[in-house]
Amino acid sequence: MKRPYAQFVATGRSVPSKVLTNHDFSKMGLETSHEWIFERTGIAERHVAGDGETTCGMASAAARVAMERANVNAGEIDVIILSTATPDRLLPSTAVDIQAQLGATRASAFDLSAACSGWLYGLAVGEGLILNGTAETVLVIAAEKMSAIVDWTDRSTCVLFGDGAGAAILQKSKHGRGILSSFMRSDGTLAELLYRPAGGATLPMSEAVLTDRGHLVKMAGREVFKAAVRSMSDAADRALDGAKLTGNDIDMMIPHQANVRIIEATAKHAGIPMDKVYVNVDRYGNTSSASIPIALDEALERGQIGPGATVLMVTFGAGFTWASMVVRF
Ligand SMILES: CC(C)(COP(=O)(O)OP(=O)(O)OC[C@H]1O[C@@H](n2cnc3c(N)ncnc32)[C@H](O)[C@@H]1OP(=O)(O)O)[C@@H](O)C(=O)NCCC(=O)NCCS
Repeated sequence: MKRPYAQFVATGRSVPSKVLTNHDFSKMGLETSHEWIFERTGIAERHVAGDGETTCGMASAAARVAMERANVNAGEIDVIILSTATPDRLLPSTAVDIQAQLGATRASAFDLSAACSGWLYGLAVGEGLILNGTAETVLVIAAEKMSAIVDWTDRSTCVLFGDGAGAAILQKSKHGRGILSSFMRSDGTLAELLYRPAGGATLPMSEAVLTDRGHLVKMAGREVFKAAVRSMSDAADRALDGAKLTGNDIDMMIPHQANVRIIEATAKHAGIPMDKVYVNVDRYGNTSSASIPIALDEALERGQIGPGATVLMVTFGAGFTWASMVVRF
């Protein structure tokens, strides 16, 4: 008899309607060009939240799509996990706002902080809760309003990021479908290569923090690039080994969408040809932990992932954190 798995019942996504192209940055007075950004990253445009668009709002919209497709109503959800680096406020969690918006009265809800790796971390937690019998239905969301925390005067970071949300509903399956393997790792010795120095409990908001822009994202791009290739390649190996598969067995790879050159290097390492790699970084930029669920939802909607397909998801982010997962759909 096959062991039980945590399976994806449905997914959803929501991105703001406002689009910012590379050309718009030059018009805003930033010393950059479409050519510079596109050649180094593969990004052409990204969606950014407009007035009144919140992390909770994007998350709830993505969740509603997934719930409708899964035919799951709010009262059936046991746990809501929100991955975000951009909570709407610091206390309480944004997940409880989502719970209230959805009317998921039976659910426990909490935020999970693992930067761009957070959605895969959240899926691994959700899988555990399902397999140990704590929960039957888990809603795992990633929502990011990166536009609120990037420094719009720093051309080396602000051009990279975008806003959006994706969600999945997990339940138990006995039909050999679901999460076959997962892997997570962190290295906190490298935290200051990609971080927000101030605004937390150690250096709370003050006039000096605001003047120095210490509450906004700082990144050592070259070091992050190298670590991303190394870690995502390692993560791909680990999830494939865990599922006793090789790159040849993978029907579709859904990588974290940070930079097309990082994606290409990871795919090459895993032995997966680019026509089996889903890429949408050109249209969304790096939406942090929302990037994989947005890409997965698009690939499912377009029929590029069908029933029985084996999918490798792999990610890397601030922390550093990295993670991977093999899923049979
Ligand atoms: C950010 C990144 C695109 C920069 O590319 P790079 O080739 O490493 O470029 P560098 O940072 O060495 O900068 C080279 C030059 O371009 C300039 N530059 C930086 N951003 C620029 C921009 N948007 N437009 C034009 N020039 C820019 C720099 O100021 C520097 O100029 P200098 O040589 O006069 O000092 C690249 O390092 C990268 O993608 N890193 C990974 C980032 C990432 O994905 N982070 C999230 C991980 S989850």
